[in-house]
Amino acid sequence: PPPTVLEAENATISQGVVESNHAGFTGTGFVNGDNVVGSSVEWTVNAAQAGTATLAFRFANGTATNRPMDVAGTLVDFPGTGAWTTWATRSITVPLNAGANLIRATATTANGGPNLDHLAVTGP
Ligand code: GCU
Repeated sequence: PPPTVLEAENATISQGVVESNHAGFTGTGFVNGDNVVGSSVEWTVNAAQAGTATLAFRFANGTATNRPMDVAGTLVDFPGTGAWTTWATRSITVPLNAGANLIRATATTANGGPNLDHLAVTGP
């Protein structure tokens, strides 16, 4: 089956705003998290059954500096994409429980995270 696309602008945002001023996003916008440690976006990922899922985060980082975020204890790198309008994806695999799973991406540096467009979930 195709991935389930969960827009960041529909997720729970802590210390950030929804914007649409950089083209190329899906849905109605993207999340511009505050440039602080701890700004976050939390998605509810529903799994039909327990198992391993691939989480693909679509993002843009118009700076030359990596903006790593913590996702369920994994540090995910979000390196520069060259422009705020250039979007890329970074993927990790995580175990999911059957039912609702909270997946939160939290900025780990004072630069905050990248601009986050969506989370695409494949499986289980
Ligand atoms: C710029 C850009 C924002 C981005 C921000 C940042 O202001 O327009 O979209 O979020 O830089 O550095 O995080």
